[in-house]
Amino acid sequence: MASHHIQYFIVILMSTFLTIHSFEELTPDFYNDVCPQALPIIHSIVLQKLNMKPRMGAHLLRLHFHDCFVNGCDGSVLLDDTPNFIGEKNAISNIDSLKGFMLVDIMKAAVDKACKRSVVSCADILAIAARDSVSILGGPSYWYEVPLGRRDARNAIKKDADFYLPSQLFNFSQLVSNFEFQGLNIKDLVALSGAHTIGMAKCSSFKERIYNDTNIDPDFAISMQENCPIKGCDDHFEAFDHVTPNKFDNSYYKNLINKKGLLHSDQELFKGDDGSESDRLVRRYSRNPHAFARDFKASMIKMGNIKPLTGIFGEIRRDCNKVNSYLHGLNE
Ligand code: HEM
Ligand SMILES: *[C@@H]1O[C@H](CO)[C@@H](O)[C@H](O)[C@H]1NC(C)=O
Ligand SMILES: *[C@@H]1O[C@H](CO)[C@@H](O)[C@H](O)[C@H]1NC(C)=O
Repeated sequence: MASHHIQYFIVILMSTFLTIHSFEELTPDFYNDVCPQALPIIHSIVLQKLNMKPRMGAHLLRLHFHDCFVNGCDGSVLLDDTPNFIGEKNAISNIDSLKGFMLVDIMKAAVDKACKRSVVSCADILAIAARDSVSILGGPSYWYEVPLGRRDARNAIKKDADFYLPSQLFNFSQLVSNFEFQGLNIKDLVALSGAHTIGMAKCSSFKERIYNDTNIDPDFAISMQENCPIKGCDDHFEAFDHVTPNKFDNSYYKNLINKKGLLHSDQELFKGDDGSESDRLVRRYSRNPHAFARDFKASMIKMGNIKPLTGIFGEIRRDCNKVNSYLHGLNE
């Protein structure tokens, strides 16, 4: 009898534990005790790299976005293919396009070395590096506190990435429903798209637009056609924002108002018909950099909260490109 009671008690205790840990919230001070060096180390590595190569900030921001949109912010985007799965790196939107993986490895190695063990997840490194990138390229330093405590996935699925990542050929309603899948609304869509104020796109990503779209400034279309002929040159890059390509500012929205959005999907956010919520938001952000900064930050935190693995789920990967091998033991 007594042992039954004890068993029962243990079951209750365990389910309480499971409940608490399955719904654990992310918190900015997650690493304060276990690896206080993590945030300053990541910041200094990003800063050093961006001084030499500002576009790395765009790579890092996009990595976090592509991580979060495919089954949550769980570092799955970083996993190489294995005999068991084809990962996200080879998905349509990622292949030959997503970059910054080596720097993620450098950051992971540096924090693990400083803290003498592997406690910082690859998913969190992506979230921190994305924040640091936008801060360094234009936002106030430490623009916002990044909620932390994500754990890393043990698998990745190419076809999920193909399904969930938005295409540059999407029209407005497709973009809206794509963001709705993630619990993000039109305001999040418009604010987060402001990320296209840094970085570059390939000729193949905007070719249709500059030859076939009507909602485009004709001079802009002609100037883009120079480096992007109808046939070939698919790998020629253009900056999203020609005026301040490496500055995280609100010029993306000014470009949209002038019908100079580089991607078809960008210009879908602004048609010039004022009545729509997205047109109004584009006008607002183009006039008011502070409103953009505030909403971008709120939407980044919301995006960073998409289905994180916490508590007993997932793992803290030792190598961001591979799931842990349990030959090493179960002590993560
Ligand atoms: C709204 C739907 C979106 C679509 C359809 C889209 C699509 C694209 C495409 C096609 C490129 C160029 C890729 C290439 O040619 O290699 C790109 C680049 C980029 N995207 Fe997006 N994107 C979207 C939203 C976002 C969001 C929400 C973020 C981040 C918060 C983001 C961040 C970036 C960055 C920073 C780049 C430049 C990357 C670099 O220079 O390496 N995008 N995007
Ligand atoms: C957007 O694209 C979808 C799929 O191609 C199509 O069914 C829909 O009619 C389009 N919406 C608009 C407003 O053009
Ligand atoms: C423009 O549209 C036509 C007709 O749909 C298509 O055949 C052509 O490939 C498009 N051009 C580009 C550069 O995408």
